[in-house]
Amino acid sequence: MVEVDWDELRARAVEAAQSAYCPYSGLRVGAAAVCDDGRVVVGCNVENASYGVGLCAECTMAGQLRLTGGGRFVAVACRGGGGELLMPCGRCRQVLYEFGGPDCLVDTPSGVLPMSRVLPDAFGAEDLP
Ligand code: THU
Repeated sequence: MVEVDWDELRARAVEAAQSAYCPYSGLRVGAAAVCDDGRVVVGCNVENASYGVGLCAECTMAGQLRLTGGGRFVAVACRGGGGELLMPCGRCRQVLYEFGGPDCLVDTPSGVLPMSRVLPDAFGAEDLP
């Protein structure tokens, strides 16, 4: 069982947000996750002049998960650059679900909740033939 230090995880998300590339929205976003082997991976949003192809922090974090050894997300925190709690957007909930499943814990304004509460009745790999 992996221990989750939520204060540390939130701090890592705020730190990651400082690396955001967000000249269009001005919103720095950082994501941090504890993985099933205990390591922490982080991501930040990376925007683009072609607005629609910008990447959310959770997406770059999923890339870091794969680039640093793979595994699964156990707990996720998303924060703005000023430390404010941000919820993963709908698309990012699906991205997180791919690598964390229904039991992955998410920091929310209502407390720490499992992904099954954040993305109920999710579509996943098990729904594919
Ligand atoms: N953003 C994220 O990085 N994650 C989310 O879950 C929501 C939105 C970013 C995308 C864009 O760079 C900025 O926040 C404003 O939408």
